[in-house]
Amino acid sequence: SKCFISGAEACGRERGGTNMRMYDIINKKKHGEHFTKEEIQFWVEGYTRGQIPDYQVSALLMAICFQGMNEEETLALTLAMRDSGEALDLSKITGIKVDKHSTGGVGDKTSLVLTPMIAALGIPVAKMSGRGLGHTGGTIDKLECFPGFSTELSEEKFYETVNQTKMAIMSQTANLAPADQKLYALRDVTATVDQISLIAASIMSKKLAANADAIVLDVKTGNGAFMKSEEDAFALAREMVRIGQNAGKQISAVITDMDQPLGAAVGNSLEVKEAILALNGLGPKDIMEVVYGLGTELVLAAGKAEYPEAAKELLRGTIQSKSALHKFAEFVKAQGGNMDLVYQPELLPVGRIQLQVLNTEEGYVSQILAEEIGLASLALGGGRITKESKIDLSVGILLNKKRGDRVQPGETLATVFANDMEKAKEAYGRVVRAYQFQDKPMAEIPMIKGIVR
Ligand code: URA
Repeated sequence: SKCFISGAEACGRERGGTNMRMYDIINKKKHGEHFTKEEIQFWVEGYTRGQIPDYQVSALLMAICFQGMNEEETLALTLAMRDSGEALDLSKITGIKVDKHSTGGVGDKTSLVLTPMIAALGIPVAKMSGRGLGHTGGTIDKLECFPGFSTELSEEKFYETVNQTKMAIMSQTANLAPADQKLYALRDVTATVDQISLIAASIMSKKLAANADAIVLDVKTGNGAFMKSEEDAFALAREMVRIGQNAGKQISAVITDMDQPLGAAVGNSLEVKEAILALNGLGPKDIMEVVYGLGTELVLAAGKAEYPEAAKELLRGTIQSKSALHKFAEFVKAQGGNMDLVYQPELLPVGRIQLQVLNTEEGYVSQILAEEIGLASLALGGGRITKESKIDLSVGILLNKKRGDRVQPGETLATVFANDMEKAKEAYGRVVRAYQFQDKPMAEIPMIKGIVR
């Protein structure tokens, strides 16, 4: 038999008079043909309900990797995944609700800085976030550095918090695009993650289910990102923006550098400290460039300014007046966390072992391989190898030297914060490997590579 699932429902289903079989759908893509919307709905629904087995969907995903999907197929896949669960109903929140998403990076604490700046301008931020996986970090883990902080909010509490505080961040619920959750886990183990249409549909299905009116996407490019080349990052950005527009959202994507970690801190508690410094007006230049780039898009989308320069001016004002810092403290308190730490970040936990990585070269730092630094943090216990891993919030790496810095032998390149000497040594080795040098000074590389609107 060509059908491996028992039962009429699984072998084929009547849809508009056509009897569909998974075998035919796989075969169709294998030969480079295009799916109909009904075929996509058939396999997404069937897989989510457990009626189509992993091995058939694995074969299909691999065929998609080789043959690709066109715009209509990608949109249909996104909408089928969005509709596999329940979308949030943000109509209970007043105003133009905004959301921000990053495709994943190392040292990326942008959300912690940007969201209170936006909320301080009175723009409601309704954000769903994830935890870190592999070498990339996640906002939820960082927020859990504040004792008592909870992201497991009921929908009602989420709406209420955004209405009162102008911002709330909750973890993704099990019923948010469950098809994506199942498909992502399968892609992760079948080498089918890095296909642009699949990534676009995966990210956008969750963003559409989270249902904000305006969305800004931070599409990272470089050695620490999913999209290593700028060309691929732009292609992903264009695909996601097109999907968002087709679904009636105001959306733009900012393509930003991830050839070295963002800022100096990598590791949950260290990153929170750096974000608090940024809210106090002491943010590293690269972080602030990304924050202002993304923020400008949101302020324009929310109709608070007509021109980018005016939007930036408003955003700068939230740092100068400390209104963003106070908004952050208010938000931490509203979600149950100890807001005193926002004003006393020195009380956040740091690893008790501190190893300095000393430089042996003379020259200029040409690159800091972000993935290698992310893996060093993972080795320290600061990241997750599997979804169930418990993480140590106090460990990480502080980069004392960044790209373009002149270095002399004996200077400290970076500091490793650990709680276990063996792990510290492993991380030390990775940090040494991450640093690359050149003889000549280099021109500054802009953080923002472009914007897709
Ligand atoms: N992030 C997602 O949510 N999905 C992908 O496919 C890749 C990155």
